[in-house]
Amino acid sequence: MTRRKKPPPQRKLQQITDSSGWTHVIKGPPGTVNAGTTGIRLEDGKSTGTKYTLETYLDRFRKHYAPIWQGSDCFKSLSRMFEQDILPAENILITQCVCLGLGSMTAGSESSSYELAALISILEMLGKEHHIQDIVFQDPVFNALDHTILESLGYTVVQSPDAFSKLNGTTFLFAPHLECFHYATALETATPVLSVGSDPQMYVEGLLSSLAESTKKGSRQIFHDFLGKTRSRPMPDFDRTPWCESTCIYWVKSEKDDSGKSKIEEAVRLM
Ligand SMILES: C[S@@+](CC[C@H](N)C(=O)[O-])C[C@H]1O[C@@H](n2cnc3c(N)ncnc32)[C@H](O)[C@@H]1O
Repeated sequence: MTRRKKPPPQRKLQQITDSSGWTHVIKGPPGTVNAGTTGIRLEDGKSTGTKYTLETYLDRFRKHYAPIWQGSDCFKSLSRMFEQDILPAENILITQCVCLGLGSMTAGSESSSYELAALISILEMLGKEHHIQDIVFQDPVFNALDHTILESLGYTVVQSPDAFSKLNGTTFLFAPHLECFHYATALETATPVLSVGSDPQMYVEGLLSSLAESTKKGSRQIFHDFLGKTRSRPMPDFDRTPWCESTCIYWVKSEKDDSGKSKIEEAVRLM
């Protein structure tokens, strides 16, 4: 009679909660595996995998995402745009940066890491002319590792909705592909002096149709006012991920821009 081999004992999945309140899923009894290296995390019942630790992410960021972004044609075109249009503009004063909706760099798409590389490069360019004291990030999808990474780079991470009330007329808002409702909330608080974000025209024409009529009207007015107060250029194409698609860079018009416009409006009126 042949004896059936016993299957190897399965290590059971266990949930443990770490000191920061995050729940990790590990195999085996609690304490037998270093939860920090399993890369499986539960937040509000949803699991999100990350293969990174702080050190491995920063290594990947410095050796991969940052150099690819800095060597891209997109960054070269953007740098020229800053040198020609934005840095010389006398009406632009920037004292803080608010980043909304970056997405998780460690458990989301690669776009978020390229966006972070782009944001850092823009901050470096702006640093030639502006003293930017606060750099604040807000995205409800950030996990504990994203927080740690951003804080290790010297930035502040806040919980939603705290970042909205920080916006003012000397803010650089970086919010590529932020959902329409949150974008409108941000622009309703203040008109950022400089922003990178979705073309609001697209929201007005497309995505807004999915919102309630009252919200739609309010948002349309907010976006309309924003477009009236700013000049814009489309973000140059980036070949690695679609983060620049349907995205523009906006900066507030100077009085000169506005008086030029009113002369044209006056001429049209008299025709
Ligand atoms: C369409 S994704 C864009 C992600 C990334 N920026 C990109 O271009 O791929 C929109 C992001 O907005 C974030 N978001 C949702 N509510 C938010 C809020 N109240 N404040 C900031 N970000 C928010 C979402 O979690 C998500 O990461």
